[in-house]
Amino acid sequence: MEDHIRFNASERVLDLLDQRLLPTREERFLCHTVSDAIYAIQTMVVRGAPAIGVTAAYACALAASECRKEAGFAESFTQKLDLLVQSRPTAVNLAWAVERQRALWHAHPEATPDSLFAMLADNARIIQQADIASCKAIGQASLELVHEGDCILTHCNAGALATAGYGTALGVVRAAHEAGRNITVIADETRPLLQGARLTCWELHKDGIPVTLACDNSCACLMSKGKVQLVVVGADRIAANGDTANKIGTFGVAIMARHFNIPFYVAAPVSTIDRTIADGSLIPIEERSPEEVTRPLGQQAAPDGVGAFNFAFDVTPADLIAGIITDQGLLRPPYTKAIAALDFSR
Ligand code: MRU
Repeated sequence: MEDHIRFNASERVLDLLDQRLLPTREERFLCHTVSDAIYAIQTMVVRGAPAIGVTAAYACALAASECRKEAGFAESFTQKLDLLVQSRPTAVNLAWAVERQRALWHAHPEATPDSLFAMLADNARIIQQADIASCKAIGQASLELVHEGDCILTHCNAGALATAGYGTALGVVRAAHEAGRNITVIADETRPLLQGARLTCWELHKDGIPVTLACDNSCACLMSKGKVQLVVVGADRIAANGDTANKIGTFGVAIMARHFNIPFYVAAPVSTIDRTIADGSLIPIEERSPEEVTRPLGQQAAPDGVGAFNFAFDVTPADLIAGIITDQGLLRPPYTKAIAALDFSR
């Protein structure tokens, strides 16, 4: 699945698989403007840290196209890029991709709006292709960790749908499967939006990789019964000390893994590491509408008038993480040192 994000440069349209409708309907959502792309990111038509980064990179090209007839091009274009960066706060890949596009613009002051559009669209395609290569490199770097017969528990969806293709946590799964290892997966359902049930199960089932769905609250029970050999999750932002923000519930899974002595790994490209943030306490955590909890999938589940917590992410402290599997290899603690040694210029 490498075509859930498509860009038609001649029509100037960004064409996304609408992830809100999976697993029952496969429909496309078309973005003609930056506002359409921001709407798609905020409402989770497209979600997952690298996937929203790629989407935002293409949306920058749409922004150049939209502003081409405006007198104050630089001002309007800057405003649109700034709005894009703010569309979801936690996943750093979004700002990373927009800032790459902004830097390209600044490096070409001679560009006309039309040549800038073409340049940004090409660069977005490069970012998209590079993300697939990164996911495959993560898969290769993880092969030593996954053994014949292992059952891997994962939380949320860090798969092809959450990236440009192949996946980070599910890249680990796919690489082991492709290497001929007989592995199975437990997918946490991942309340409230059920990315595990709807998306992880959908893509693994489609690829013929054995997957079993588990209620979020059955994790300790499954671990106590010896059903989990390792945990692999994705990441939305990793601080300079290795603290990792990922989908709400990840922190709890890490605590349970520590209790049962099960290795807990994070799989993410280097573009998910934010060196400007010293530790996880500084990572901005998105809070979404309480309605996603009180009316899951549009069905009322709590009495009218009752509020709900809806933090979209939590932060797993670095000391609970056995290793961070990146496209530049497997990092082991102490992460401050391992992260400082990475090449961030690629
Ligand atoms: O709210 P979401 O669905 O965008 O959250 C996604 C996750 O938390 C993923 O685990 C993370 O982005 C890693 S994707 C490779």
